[in-house]
Amino acid sequence: MKVIAGKASQSLGKRVAKILGVEFLAPHVEKFPDGEIYVRVEGEIDNDMVLIQTTYPNDRILELFLLQDALRERGAERIITVVPYFGYSRQDKIFKMGEAISARAMARHIQLYSDAFIGVDLHAESILRWFDIPAMHLHATKVIAKYLQEMNVGVVISPDKGGYERARLVAESMNVEFDYLEKTRLSGDTVVIKPKSMDIAGKIVAIVDDIISTGGTIAKAAEQLRSQGARKIYAVCTHGLFIGHAMENMKKVDDFAATDTIESQHSQITVAPVIAQGIRDIMGNL
Ligand code: R5P
Repeated sequence: MKVIAGKASQSLGKRVAKILGVEFLAPHVEKFPDGEIYVRVEGEIDNDMVLIQTTYPNDRILELFLLQDALRERGAERIITVVPYFGYSRQDKIFKMGEAISARAMARHIQLYSDAFIGVDLHAESILRWFDIPAMHLHATKVIAKYLQEMNVGVVISPDKGGYERARLVAESMNVEFDYLEKTRLSGDTVVIKPKSMDIAGKIVAIVDDIISTGGTIAKAAEQLRSQGARKIYAVCTHGLFIGHAMENMKKVDDFAATDTIESQHSQITVAPVIAQGIRDIMGNL
């Protein structure tokens, strides 16, 4: 087995290869003047190739498809496609008539040249049902918990009910309390957002979410937690997009971090051990 990674996941790919003790291949990728992408896979190919590429932003999606094609062309017999951040996952159903189910379109295209698929903290577990090949959903909860443990966090908070399970898993790994923020409408124009059942006054709190995009959700949650007396507030997510006014919004917390599913200067936590274990497990079942 060898590991190759596209431009979106070079550092993560190298870390995964190191943990697995296998060779890492970096493809040659460039852009033509008209914006089209060119890839070339050099070096010795193994029968089993692990291809790691986050499908964000858009160019990285095309790069993934071209790399899959190049690997097959070079003779790879099995391609395990690892998508650390699965772009387009949030449009996973039809909200208005005439829309595409973008997550399904992505899944179907990714699997065209794959023999197995691995995703990390997908927007919804149900995305896996669109794969007809072995598909695995990994979670960053353990590595996030390890990071937060070093910061003496006493409470893990999900900014909404939907993320409660994630907060629970992180908190249980750390052996600390957890809760989620609940919106209560007191009157037509008064809404109170506070932890469902916990008093966080004087505590060091970590807000844990799957994605930080514009940072609006974190900023709002931090304001509420601050007004309720939290001593320190950290924000941690798996997928750090940090777009728009995100940096301004992050000033509302004492510190923040993301994993390396999307590589940036904020990727202070690596999911490499989680992915390496996932690869071992899925290979064992192929
Ligand atoms: C929502 O379902 C997600 O879990 C995140 O809370 C959301 O995507 C964050 O977006 P933003 O950073 O733009 O508030």
